[in-house]
Amino acid sequence: MGCSALSTKQERRFPDDFLFGTATAAYQIEGGWNADDKGESIWDHLTHNNPTVIKDLSNGDITADTYNNYKRDVEMMRELGLDAYRFSLSWSRILPNGLTNKVSEAGFAFYNNYIDEMVKYGITPMVTLYHWDLPQKLQDLGGLANPLFPEWYEDYARVVFEQFGDRVKHWITFNEPREICYEGYDAGRNAPQVNATGIGSYLCAKNLVMAHARAYHAYKNDFAPSQGGVCGITICVNWVAPLTDSEEDRFEAELSRQGQWGLYAEPIFSEEGGFPKELSERVAQRSIEQGYPRSRMPEFTDEEKAFVKGAADFFGVNHYTTFLISATEKFSEHAFSDFETENHYLDEWPKSASDWLNLAPNSVLNALTHLKEKYNNPVIYITENGWSTRHDAGLIDDDRIRYYRAALENVLDALDAGVNLKGYMAWSLMDNFEWFAGYTERFGLYEVDFEDPARTRTPKKSAFVYKQIIKKRVIDHEYEPSSMTMTIDEGH
Ligand code: NOJ
Repeated sequence: MGCSALSTKQERRFPDDFLFGTATAAYQIEGGWNADDKGESIWDHLTHNNPTVIKDLSNGDITADTYNNYKRDVEMMRELGLDAYRFSLSWSRILPNGLTNKVSEAGFAFYNNYIDEMVKYGITPMVTLYHWDLPQKLQDLGGLANPLFPEWYEDYARVVFEQFGDRVKHWITFNEPREICYEGYDAGRNAPQVNATGIGSYLCAKNLVMAHARAYHAYKNDFAPSQGGVCGITICVNWVAPLTDSEEDRFEAELSRQGQWGLYAEPIFSEEGGFPKELSERVAQRSIEQGYPRSRMPEFTDEEKAFVKGAADFFGVNHYTTFLISATEKFSEHAFSDFETENHYLDEWPKSASDWLNLAPNSVLNALTHLKEKYNNPVIYITENGWSTRHDAGLIDDDRIRYYRAALENVLDALDAGVNLKGYMAWSLMDNFEWFAGYTERFGLYEVDFEDPARTRTPKKSAFVYKQIIKKRVIDHEYEPSSMTMTIDEGH
């Protein structure tokens, strides 16, 4: 019985037009932090001025040095047989001061070469406009908390669409709004480390969502008619479930979902538009109790709601793990002051090298089916999913392979369940700068030797397994690479 169930599973195929790829982000891989006329970003600024916040005191000044190794990166994509590659643009490499009065020809040239190299080999570029590295000049003016931010962002987006849109047909405006707004402007953790609990994230959320919508409409009105691409946003949707079936746990889990992704997804993808209802009510009530004259959460006018609603061709999902939520008696001092929750993981869930990342059963499936139901079955791309190992874990990464196989089984389950899922990007093509963890946690399918000036890349075992899945369009749980020598298959 067990055997027949397994063989049926093994025969399930990924559709031929399903896009398999890998993902990276500019600050994490590029290096060349001040190459040519590149301007300073908030991550350059943070790591240079406050190096001790990074676990191994490192930074992204050189990292995997993609600035000089981009051809090798594309060669790795060909080795893996990727359909697509997701990467991000560094805003301050393109616009050194953040504003469009000065553009960098060297920045254009770098990305044009990178994109051309992909396109030459039939790899679909999927481009994120903003993956956390705001030009420092704009941060000096308040960054995402400045009400002019949506304007600055639209100006930047137009330059990018104009410059690269003849070859790029998949655009992602922002990567992980919660990590930008909550971690960056509320909890004071991510750059720019603004500590404005209960205020910063809501202010930033509104500006970010408005900026997204402005870029989306600019693209749809002025570029898509001739360029014919799609534009969406990537939100981190980990699965969040109540720890117990109690009403309190269920309610707090819902509020937590609204805080983690609903804040950014509801205005764009829900029928009603605007910020999520229960969370808005909670913040309004707490604000009054705390002596504020009005809610700390801004509102959308009816006109803004209509402008934002439906402003996405797809929902980009970064998914990593599951959190279980229980209600507590008091508001946490470390999380939003608006949440009465505690996070839990089960002991039996296998642990990665990152303290927040565990392998929970059906994590991908639960998140995707939830989004399908909630937002009327939107087109979804998984824009990130991956597993970390320690920096000294070596090339035999069986735990990463186990994670990917489980996630991809869930992708097939989701397709069976009618989720409108079009692609899957593994995080990450190669080891890179993992923000506050520096180089201590590794997510790559390829190992990068950060001691070596050439930044040599070497495939891990998981690279061979992923390649086999892409090629065969099935998950063969028995597959073992016969050697660790990587080649490019014909046609790539
Ligand atoms: C999501 C982020 O987008 C990415 O930059 C990060 O490296 C991965 N999570 C892993 O933590």
